[in-house]
Amino acid sequence: MTTLAILTAAGSGSRLGRDLPKALVELDGFPLVLHAARRLAASGVVDSLVVTAPHGLAGVMTDLLAGDPHVLVPVEVTSGGPTRQASVAAGLAHASPGDDVVLVHDAARPLVPAELVRRVVTAVRAGHGAVVPGLPVTDTVKQVSPDGDAELVVGTPDRSALRAVQTPQGFARDLLVRAHRTGAARAAAEHLAATDDAGLVEALGEPVHMVAGDATAFKITTERDLWLASLVLQETIA
Ligand code: CTP
Ligand code: MG
Repeated sequence: MTTLAILTAAGSGSRLGRDLPKALVELDGFPLVLHAARRLAASGVVDSLVVTAPHGLAGVMTDLLAGDPHVLVPVEVTSGGPTRQASVAAGLAHASPGDDVVLVHDAARPLVPAELVRRVVTAVRAGHGAVVPGLPVTDTVKQVSPDGDAELVVGTPDRSALRAVQTPQGFARDLLVRAHRTGAARAAAEHLAATDDAGLVEALGEPVHMVAGDATAFKITTERDLWLASLVLQETIA
């Protein structure tokens, strides 16, 4: 019984707008993917890593991760797909028979605390087939529909029942495989918003449980997030 973490790092980082993929952009002198891999390894509950690399950069990614003294678990690098979902599926194909728990984590969340990784794995090992970390939403959220050159507000969901979802998301391996095979097709056919792996499990009609997220696991999308991450690191070291 082992836990595999799929580290998705094959995106281009178009919103960050650098001339290299986001996972390779440096934070405090190290690429985002390396920060994330070190933190997953440091959790003590991840036995191996599969990293999805951008097209043509599998070699670069392998050199970076396999040689790092802080990534003390076996690392395999595979080429990602054109979408995040395709990248996760490519990573999942590398699971070993003994990997009964699979985590999916975004390299774009480089500062994920080890404690959060442990919380997710513990909940899966306690018997929940799909577990996501989430945080209460602080902004009021409006639902809109297109209306000419503007948008029409059609509803205000009860904020107390809303959560912003993070990674790592954790799964019983068989359930995640089924979700990627059947849930993905069903979600597409029924126009469900399966924008994460848990969404594919929901499309199967299987339960997804939530544990408390952590603000430090925020996602790097823009330059401002990168600046924020460097401040967080400075504060942690000081
Ligand atoms: N990802 C991936 N394969 C893809 C697209 C995304 O492995 N085809 C990964 C990214 O590397 C990232 C995570 O999924 O770690 C979350 O995606 P996102 O934050 O959207 O990253 P990018 O797609 O790289 O950024 P952007 O959408 O701005 O281009
Ligand atoms: Mg993207």
